Amino acid sequence: MEIVIANKSHIVYADIICKTIAEAAQVRGTGIAKREPEYVAAKMENGNAVIALEGDKFAGFCYIEAWGHGKFVANSGLIVHPDFRNLGLAKQIKEVIFKHSRTKFPDAKVFSITTGLAVMKLNSDLGYKPVTFSELTDD
Ligand SMILES: CC(C)(COP(=O)(O)OP(=O)(O)OC[C@H]1O[C@@H](n2cnc3c(N)ncnc32)[C@H](O)[C@@H]1OP(=O)(O)O)[C@@H](O)C(=O)NCCC(=O)NCCS
Repeated sequence: MEIVIANKSHIVYADIICKTIAEAAQVRGTGIAKREPEYVAAKMENGNAVIALEGDKFAGFCYIEAWGHGKFVANSGLIVHPDFRNLGLAKQIKEVIFKHSRTKFPDAKVFSITTGLAVMKLNSDLGYKPVTFSELTDD
């Protein structure tokens, strides 16, 4: 498994990423926003995404959203393909994107918005502290 900062060579995976997100949203019914392939592709081109690949097979993805001129950064759109779940991949992706966020936006407050139990657990393990929306950007 390789987990890397995505670049424009990964744009070929934008469709399957959005499809996997849409399928997960359908299964869960709530709390997972739809993403368009163009949006995901732009994140890759700008070096604001992490992708996990097993050979040339898509395994997982996450991207950075920045607000308030880089003062606030969220790690968003986390998705692991069903074939690769429960192997610790989401945890590894979150670690890579957290380090990348720190490097690229050293002065930002890094946060993660979630309605999912698995991601809440992951975030706690990584040292994130729970806050209300009033402590985040109002953007
Ligand atoms: C949520 C998701 C990213 C987890 O990916 P994963 O690679 O299977 O997660 P990991 O294997 O790294 O597991 C991380 C932890 O979460 C736990 N976990 C995984 N899936 C879980 C679930 N459905 N419910 C509760 N806990 C779960 C694991 O047990 C593990 O905890 P541990 O370290 O104490 O064993 C993946 O299931 C997914 O893509 N789901 C659909 C999309 C989604 O919900 N995205 C998040 C939107 S906020």
